[in-house]
Amino acid sequence: MSKKEELDNLEKKAILLHECKLCKHRKHFVFGEGNAEAEIMIIGEAPGKDEDEQGRPFVGRSGQLLTRIIENGMKIKRFDIYISNIVKCRPTKGNLGEQDRPPEKEEIESARWIIEEQINIIKPKIILAVGNTSARFLLNTKDGITKTHGNLYDYKNIKVMPIYHPSYILRNGGENSPLKKVVWEDIKKVMDYLGMKY
Ligand code: URA
Repeated sequence: MSKKEELDNLEKKAILLHECKLCKHRKHFVFGEGNAEAEIMIIGEAPGKDEDEQGRPFVGRSGQLLTRIIENGMKIKRFDIYISNIVKCRPTKGNLGEQDRPPEKEEIESARWIIEEQINIIKPKIILAVGNTSARFLLNTKDGITKTHGNLYDYKNIKVMPIYHPSYILRNGGENSPLKKVVWEDIKKVMDYLGMKY
């Protein structure tokens, strides 16, 4: 079976079996998308409003910034990477879907088997852990992204590079934020590891 078929099967199984308290209020289960044979995997936190509406990861404002970093900076097409999140249903502060919030521990744990299986199928060379939730999950640490970003870690023999979340960049100066340069320096280390030119 190809990796794509394995991912398709996992997606069907996950939609059927996954249970968490976010499931009731979501519009879409956001499994992930991209190249099943990718060398690079991007793992964010959880779907936001736009992702919940479209059923695709990283398509809102922060996703668009992430896509620009990938396509303009790394010179890779978004669809050559595999993109997913730790949690597959959108966490909101109320049940009316007005405001996003980070996923709770219990929500992360109930979705753990899905992202672990996705990583196991894709077996990328490197994972970009986008933001605190993803980095803490993959590094199994309580340390925050300010401390971990820019360093290469191991997750089951796969390298992990934690980077600042694009939504954090957008909240701190946007396109002109000095954090963009910090993210680019971290991404260059990923490109070095993969032997890519910049
Ligand atoms: N933030 C995330 O962490 N993931 C998404 O898919 C969108 C926003």
